[in-house]
This record gives sequence, C-alpha cells and structure tokens, in this order.
Amino acid sequence: MLGQKLVLALRDNNELLATSIGPCRMNNQSGFAYQNLDITNKQAVQKIVLDFRPDVIINTAAMTNVDDCEDDQEACDNLNVYSVQYLADACVELGSQLIHISTDFIFDGKEGPYKEEDNPNPLSYYGLSKLNSEKILQKHSCDWVILRTIVVYGFADNLSRDNIVLWARRALKKGNPLNIIDDQFRSPTLAEDLAQACVLAVEKRAKGIYNASGKDIMSILEMVERMADFYNCDKSIINRINTDKLKQKAKRPLKTGFILDKSINELAYQPHSFEEGLAIVEQQILNTKK
Ligand SMILES: NC(=O)c1ccc[n+]([C@@H]2O[C@H](COP(=O)([O-])OP(=O)(O)OC[C@H]3O[C@@H](n4cnc5c(N)ncnc54)[C@H](OP(=O)(O)O)[C@@H]3O)[C@@H](O)[C@H]2O)c1
Repeated sequence: MLGQKLVLALRDNNELLATSIGPCRMNNQSGFAYQNLDITNKQAVQKIVLDFRPDVIINTAAMTNVDDCEDDQEACDNLNVYSVQYLADACVELGSQLIHISTDFIFDGKEGPYKEEDNPNPLSYYGLSKLNSEKILQKHSCDWVILRTIVVYGFADNLSRDNIVLWARRALKKGNPLNIIDDQFRSPTLAEDLAQACVLAVEKRAKGIYNASGKDIMSILEMVERMADFYNCDKSIINRINTDKLKQKAKRPLKTGFILDKSINELAYQPHSFEEGLAIVEQQILNTKK
C-alpha cells in the first residue's frame, strides 16, 4: 500500500523504478518503470541497485502480518531483517540514501505515546524483527533514515492485505456486528501521510529516526466509533471486547501512539486528522466507482 502511494507521489517528477515480489498491482502503470524483485535475494538486490544506480531507495516491503511472523520466524527474519542489510550494503557502494519503515510494535505499550529516543521492548516477533532491522541501520555506514509508523490505512489498487478502515467500513455499512478492542490505543496513519513523510525525508536529506504516524491517539474502539459517526452508521452493532478476550497469537502493546514534534519541526511533516483521512479514502473509493 505504501509503495503505491509513493509511486503516485513521485512518478511525475522523478526517474522512478518500483519493485515488488509479484506483478505490479497498480491499474495505471504510466510514468514509472516496474521490475520484479525479491529483496530476500541478496544477488538480485545488488544487481538491480547497481543497474539502476538510485539516489534514494525507499524500502516499503515487509512481512506485516504480526501473527504470521510469530508462526514463521525464519521468513519474517529473511524479509524484515536480512534484506535490510542487503539494501544498506548496496546503498553504501553508491552513496544512495536508504529510507526504511519501522513500527510502534518495537515498544511494549506501557508508556505510550513514544518519542524517538524511548527504550524499545518488543512483545512480538514482528516487533523484534523490525527492531533488529533498525539495529542493522544504526550500525551501518550508509546514509539511512528510519520512519516509524502505526496502523497504516488507506485505499489502493488490488491490495494483498485489508486494513482496519477498509474492513470496518465494509462491516459498518452492511450492519454486520463487530467485536472491537477497547484497551489498545494507536495513532492511525493515512498511507498518503506516510508517503509524504518519506518524500520529506528525501527532500530534507534527513538522517536518523523519525516518528511518522497520524496525529490523533485513540483506542481501536474509538477509531471504529468515529468511523460509524463519519459514515452515519449504527454504533450499536459495535461490541466492546478487551485484549485478553481476543487471544491473538502475537502479543500487542496496549498503548502506543507517537509524539510527532521532531518530524513536524525538522521535516515539516503535517499529517491529516483521522476524519480528514477518512474523507480522502472515501473520495478515492467513490472515484473508482465512476
Ligand atoms: N500496515 C501497517 O499497519 C503498518 C504499521 C506499522 C509499520 N508498518 C510498516 O510499513 C511498511 C509498509 O507497510 P504496508 O502496510 O505498505 O505493507 P504491505 O501493504 O503489506 O506491503 C508490503 C509489500 O511488500 C511486498 N513483498 C513481500 N515480500 C516481498 C519480497 N520478498 N520482496 C519484495 N517485496 C515483497 C508485498 O508484496 P505482495 O503484495 O505481492 O505480497 C507487499 O506489496 C512496512 O515496513 C511495515 O512493517 C506497517
């Protein structure tokens, strides 16, 4: 999803090569080149980087299903950790900047919202893998930026994964009952805002770690209730549950959220409010129906 938003933000004014493991998921493939690339293949990463010689690489690939990472830790490490080393090694050869995306799941959720320099303590294998990817960059001599984000939502072409706004919107509009957690707090992030943070990090030639989430912190329950208000749907179909009852495979941090002062001051990052984000997504869905 982030990859598609970056293509939309960058394709008009840049020489852009988009890559992913499968075929290109975008309906309109004009204005950029596309190649298949499995970033867990070290030689393939080296070859494509040396052929294209990018000024900047933005790594949006990851194993993002937190429970799948618990089940297949080897696959998780291959994609979320080792491939970051391959990208960083390739960048150092050419002096390219590497933008990498990390997560609030590197924290244990006891003291959110978090600043960039707070101490990580991941509760899940996914969180640990993303923290390990950060550690690789922190020790690396390449020109790196880590943007940490939270619950990314949005609408894009032929997505391989659902996101909270798309599935809750569908259920609310159909009137299907929803069980929603009331004791996990997050800052939902519009995919376009995260893409904008990547672009700003390139433009400002940023270095180091930046928080790049939405600006509103709320429980997942409040998120879905605010969606029901936004779509004018019946809120009585939303059932409140807590984390203990849900029995998810991977442990989740209870209260995250980010303090955004550094990215606002240094990158001029200006994320939308949650309702502004919902309006943008709604317009995009309407446009595809025209
Ligand atoms: N989504 C969230 O809520 C969230 C929260 C915090 C942080 N993040 C971070 O934000 C970043 C972007 O997430 P996203 O939501 O945009 O994820 P996404 O939609 O799941 O995109 C990940 C992409 O990586 C591709 N991919 C999978 N294996 C690959 C491989 N071996 N080589 C190359 N590409 C491969 C996938 O291709 P297919 O589509 O073909 O499988 C998919 O398009 C990730 O670093 C993630 O950890 C996400």
